[in-house]
Amino acid sequence: MAASPLERAAELVKQMTLKEKLSMMSGKVDTYVGNVNAIERLGIPPLYMQDGPQGFRVTGKTGEVGSTTAWPSEMTIGSSFDTELAERWAAAMAQEFKGKGANMLLGPGIGIARVPNAGRNFEYLSGEDPVLGSLMVRAVVKGIQDQGIIANAKHWVNNEIETHRMLVSANVDLRTRREIYYPPFQAAVDAGVLSVMCSYNRINDVYSCQNNETLGHLKNDMGFKGFVVSDWFAAGTTSQALKAGLDLEMPVGLYFAEAALEAAVARQEISIRDIDDAVRRILYAMISAGILDNPAVGNPLANVTSDEHNALSREIAAKSTVLLKNEGGILPLEKFPSSSCIAVFGNTDVVTGGGSGNVKPAYVVSPAQGIEAALAGSGISVIYNPGTDLTEAASLAAKCRTAIVAVATTSHEGADRESLSLGDGQDDLVTAIAAANKRTVVLVNAPGAVLLPWADSVPAILVSWLPGQEFGNAVADVLFGAINPSARLPLTLPNKENEVGFTPEMFPGVGTPHEATYTEELLIGYR
Ligand code: GLC
Repeated sequence: MAASPLERAAELVKQMTLKEKLSMMSGKVDTYVGNVNAIERLGIPPLYMQDGPQGFRVTGKTGEVGSTTAWPSEMTIGSSFDTELAERWAAAMAQEFKGKGANMLLGPGIGIARVPNAGRNFEYLSGEDPVLGSLMVRAVVKGIQDQGIIANAKHWVNNEIETHRMLVSANVDLRTRREIYYPPFQAAVDAGVLSVMCSYNRINDVYSCQNNETLGHLKNDMGFKGFVVSDWFAAGTTSQALKAGLDLEMPVGLYFAEAALEAAVARQEISIRDIDDAVRRILYAMISAGILDNPAVGNPLANVTSDEHNALSREIAAKSTVLLKNEGGILPLEKFPSSSCIAVFGNTDVVTGGGSGNVKPAYVVSPAQGIEAALAGSGISVIYNPGTDLTEAASLAAKCRTAIVAVATTSHEGADRESLSLGDGQDDLVTAIAAANKRTVVLVNAPGAVLLPWADSVPAILVSWLPGQEFGNAVADVLFGAINPSARLPLTLPNKENEVGFTPEMFPGVGTPHEATYTEELLIGYR
């Protein structure tokens, strides 16, 4: 019977020299965001990692901007509650990583949207709910890894605050971790995820990448067999981190540099057994994903977009649109009378979030473009107005049968949102248009929770969570009834700022360095 991945990994470790083992425990600067040396003597190919959860983020030597698909965000997929769709999406996204020559995808993000204005909620499948995150992550891990790409569940664990993210301690009791924050990772482990990324933050004052308790839970209690990779520059010690369960330091070797590890062995702080376990886990993942038997053959300079992927991106964005309100059955819009017009206002090119999870699209279909394409030949004219002059906008709205207002905001890694409001006078624009046309439909595009103060004064509201490059076509599919908007809210839309009642001690934390205590325990979001 053929040797198992674990047996093959153990056999390879036996054949490796200490230097070869140490060379696999830290990254090197090369073509991709993350690169681990090959061991050619033993037929071990390099490990090539790239961001991120919403698609291949083009960096330095990996081709032209626009050569990969800017997929809908993880939260968008999460709001679909559709595991079949999620698996198809994950497989298509992984194919693009393969085409670009990467063999590891730095995603899915499966944190919990504990903090309504957290900067990375758009990157997390779960929304507010561990059951949703657990359901969706299984499909995404399968979709990615069935393509021979290592998936990377991130960020382990309690990385819910971006403010002072490299210093803050998330102080969370064990029951809350086990019932709210661990379950999506447990589901990823059960689905066979082959890598997990430990996070920047501390948990109960101990940095995640050297936290005996949390890494011990992951590897011992939860049965994780793959490897733990640090977030970029998130490693902080050599012996403590290795003993706690860190296996691979990225992006380069500082604490896991070969010399640092050799010195720690010499001081008898760590053993060869500790090193063997780390390397065996990395090899186990590579063998399980099929990377040893099918080394990466893609081309980082390739253009891996396709009509098929554009269509899938459109399908996902449409099926993940949440219909918040449809008073009087104004939706779906009919394609007559042909003498009428549709006026489209507002912010129409915000379709992705910022940071390592950003993918710059080759194009963005705006709502006006999508609606125009859907109405081609109908005789209905589509008039776009940015809405910067409210009087002018209201006057146009009054002239057309229907008014569509596209409003949006976004967020990014490394900072939490100052406010849940749309900002930039967008609330005033909606109010002005709604006053001028009783058939006003609002398209909301947000990276998470958002305030909708005018919700009672418009008949129809559709919500997307940074839906990617095909936004306008997806919106048109929903507006004209080609796709039924059957997605659901993955988190609560609050009535006001900080409706959850966080004190500074709870978020963003107080003291130096920041301590954020999760005194709400299980009662997050709608709970
Ligand atoms: C970033 C992010 C992580 C990303 C990594 C590589 O800081 O926290 O999600 O995968 O570094 O870019």
